[in-house]
Amino acid sequence: MKILRSATSATAIRPRSGRRVLVPTMGALHRGHGDLIRIAREAAGPDGEVVVSIFVNPLQFAPGADYEKYPRPEQADDEFCGNAGVDILFRPSVEEMYRSDFSVSVEEDSLANTLEGKSRPGHFRGVCTVVAKLFNILAPDAAVFGEKDFQQLAIIRRMVRDLNFPIEIIGAPTVREADGLACSSRNQYLSPMERQQAPVLQRALQEAQRLAMEGNRSTAAILNAARRMIEAAPLARIDYLEIVNSETLHPVAEASPDSLIAVAAFFGQTRLIDNLRLS
Ligand code: PAJ
Repeated sequence: MKILRSATSATAIRPRSGRRVLVPTMGALHRGHGDLIRIAREAAGPDGEVVVSIFVNPLQFAPGADYEKYPRPEQADDEFCGNAGVDILFRPSVEEMYRSDFSVSVEEDSLANTLEGKSRPGHFRGVCTVVAKLFNILAPDAAVFGEKDFQQLAIIRRMVRDLNFPIEIIGAPTVREADGLACSSRNQYLSPMERQQAPVLQRALQEAQRLAMEGNRSTAAILNAARRMIEAAPLARIDYLEIVNSETLHPVAEASPDSLIAVAAFFGQTRLIDNLRLS
């Protein structure tokens, strides 16, 4: 596995004859990232190469959020990538990615205004900007993103469409712990009590899915049932709980097969997100 620490060296290496598939991450790698790498390997084929980027992107964190304390287990991540069969690991520095007079960014102006975008102003501008830079630096043929961050995936698809990046975007299903909690680099912040209660998010989303599949259409009623379940966990504090159309991300009054329920909730200082299709 090659480890590249500078954008100039990465730009200099052109893809071989096979497909190059990129998995952008912020590190602190877990089984969810591992699955993305596996999917990237399949998409790259035997002659292709898998590139993983690890960059904790300051532009997507709000001032005072967890940028400084975001986990950075460099050695463990290197080993993880080596064991997962990654060909190239790209680890740029903040100074190189963002010059002190950096002044151009990418902003999606429709899907980014709801859900995570409403709770975290500027977040998706940071995500789009860094992903566009990674696409330009690494020139992949395809890139893999997790459905756990389904809004991010939808926004990246829109960016690629609207800015004509010649890159295929591949969505990957959410990987979970045995008790249903979605794997996340932030799970390690949870206290034992918080960790015990955190799977309530997935249970509540599953209850919503059950109600919808039984024929309940009113999203207000479905959301009430899910909200009550989450509120029964004393350490959970809901940031948002919404049923939206999975294409437009706009809230819907009636549940249908293309609806999706999305939640963000705090457990102490730790903010977790999850989502589930209602069909
Ligand atoms: P990060 O949170 O490290 O996630 C990297 C990728 O892994 C994202 O596509 C995310 O959706 C996916 N992922 C995380 N947990 C997952 C899980 N449990 N199951 C499946 N996929 C999972 O998302 C980011 O970093 C950043 O915003 C980034 C795109 C790298 C831009 O900085």
